[in-house]
Amino acid sequence: MFGRLIFTLVLAGLAWPAAAAEGDPAAGKVIFQRTCENCHAATIGVNKVGPSLWNVVGRKPASVPDFAYSDAMKANKEAWTPTTLDAYLADPRGDLHGVKMFFKGLPNPADRSNVIAFLQALR
Ligand code: HEC
Repeated sequence: MFGRLIFTLVLAGLAWPAAAAEGDPAAGKVIFQRTCENCHAATIGVNKVGPSLWNVVGRKPASVPDFAYSDAMKANKEAWTPTTLDAYLADPRGDLHGVKMFFKGLPNPADRSNVIAFLQALR
């Protein structure tokens, strides 16, 4: 019975990366620490140059209290989903809502999906 439990755990472990084909949160955390953390905290209620990114996936843009967003970001009504985040992070300044984020973006799609997977785990 114990052996069977181990077997199930191993199977679950093997299945996990496939299920997370969207991105690898552990790799995303490294990218976050290297490229986002100067400006963003992953913890609730901590704003730096940029707003806290805790629980960002699924929320409306510009909804962190006490953060002075740009007017463009306040006008952005499309909720943050993996799709909208991917477009934003690919080119934050090219997009209308990126005016205040002085960050050139993540050109590599794998980096973006990993960092989005990390953001999705912040809740
Ligand atoms: C140089 C500072 C800086 C860096 C680096 C940076 N950001 Fe930002 N970010 C900002 C600022 C400032 C804003 C607010 C933009 C506005 O109001 O237009 C912002 C906004 C955001 C938003 C919208 C938040 C909301 O509450 O609507 C997301 C999501 C975001 N950044 C993700 C990231 C990710 C992920 C990274 C790293 C890959 C990153 N940012 C790197 C400064 C930065």
